Amino acid sequence: MDSVRERIIELKAKRNAVILAHNYTRPEVQDVADFVGDSLGLAVKASKTDADVIVFCGVTFMAETAKILNPGKTVLMPEPESFCVMAQMCTPEQVDSIKAKHPGAEVVGYVNSTAACKTRLDVCCTSSNAVDIVSSCKSRDVIFIPDMNLGRHVAGKCPQKNVILWDGFCPMHQFITVRQVEALKREFPDAPVIAHPECRQEVLALADAIGSTEKMIGLSRESDSEDIIILTEVGMRHRLERECPGKRFHFAENVVCTAMKMIDLMSVLTVLENMSNEVVLDDETMRAAYIPVKRMIDGSS
Ligand code: 13P
Ligand code: SF4
Repeated sequence: MDSVRERIIELKAKRNAVILAHNYTRPEVQDVADFVGDSLGLAVKASKTDADVIVFCGVTFMAETAKILNPGKTVLMPEPESFCVMAQMCTPEQVDSIKAKHPGAEVVGYVNSTAACKTRLDVCCTSSNAVDIVSSCKSRDVIFIPDMNLGRHVAGKCPQKNVILWDGFCPMHQFITVRQVEALKREFPDAPVIAHPECRQEVLALADAIGSTEKMIGLSRESDSEDIIILTEVGMRHRLERECPGKRFHFAENVVCTAMKMIDLMSVLTVLENMSNEVVLDDETMRAAYIPVKRMIDGSS
C-alpha cells in the first residue's frame, strides 16, 4: 500500500490537487488527506483553497458543496456512488410543497441535502452551526430539512422559533438505542457521553454533550476522563485516538456509514491518475445553490 500512498502524493503535487476527507473516512484515507474535518470545516476549506483540483473523500453532498463553492475548479469524487442516505430523503418538490403550506417561513437546510434541494433553501447549516443559523432567521416559523433529529435538537435550543420539521434521518444514528447507551453507561459509569445531534431525542437526552464530529474531538481533548462514550460513526475513532493519547473511546456497536467506507486509497489514486469522476452540476443549480451555502460560510468563517 505504501507505493499507492507515494503515488497519490506524487500525483497530488503534479495536478496541484488538495485532498479533503471527512472524519468518518477510512484511517488510511484520512492519513493521506491535507485536511480532515467535519462538514463545516470541509466546506470552509473548500471555499479557501487555491488548488486547481479538489479530491473530495466524503459523501456526494459534500463534494457537490465543494463544487458549488468552486464552480471553476475540478472536484473529483473517488467514489461517485457514496450517497448519504439522509440527503436522499427530501426532494426539491417536497421542499416546494412544505413551503407552500407555510408561507413566510424561512427554509434552513442541513448541508446533508442534494444540490437540487439546496436550490430551494434560504440558508444552509451543518451540525456545528445549526442553532446559530436558525436563531438568526428573521421569521418566527422556520422549516428545517431533512433531519428531524437535528431539527428537534435545534428547536429545543431556539424556543423563540417555531421549527417545522421534515421526517428525514440518518439510519446509522437513528438506530443507536437507549438500551445500547445505558449498557455503555453501566460498563463505564464515569465516562461522559458525547453524542452527535443526528441521534434520536431520547438518546440525546442521555448525553453530557452534543456536537458535530469536530466538536467531539475538541470536547474529548478537554475532558478529564480517561473513558469517553462516543455516539456516532466508528470512523471517528482514528482521530480521537491519535489526538487524545491515553484516553479510551467506547462506541455503540455497528454504527458504520457504508457510503464513507466505499472510499479507499485505490479509488483516490484512480481519480488522480485519470482525472475521473468529476462532479458536474448544471450552471443554474450551482447559481441557485450557491446562495444558501455562501450565506452559511459567511456566517461561520
Ligand atoms: P459533521 O458535520 O458533524 O461531520 O456530520 C456530518 C455527518 O454526516 C454526520 O453523520
Ligand atoms: Fe449521511 Fe448518516 Fe453517513 Fe452522515 S453517517 S454521511 S448522515 S448516511
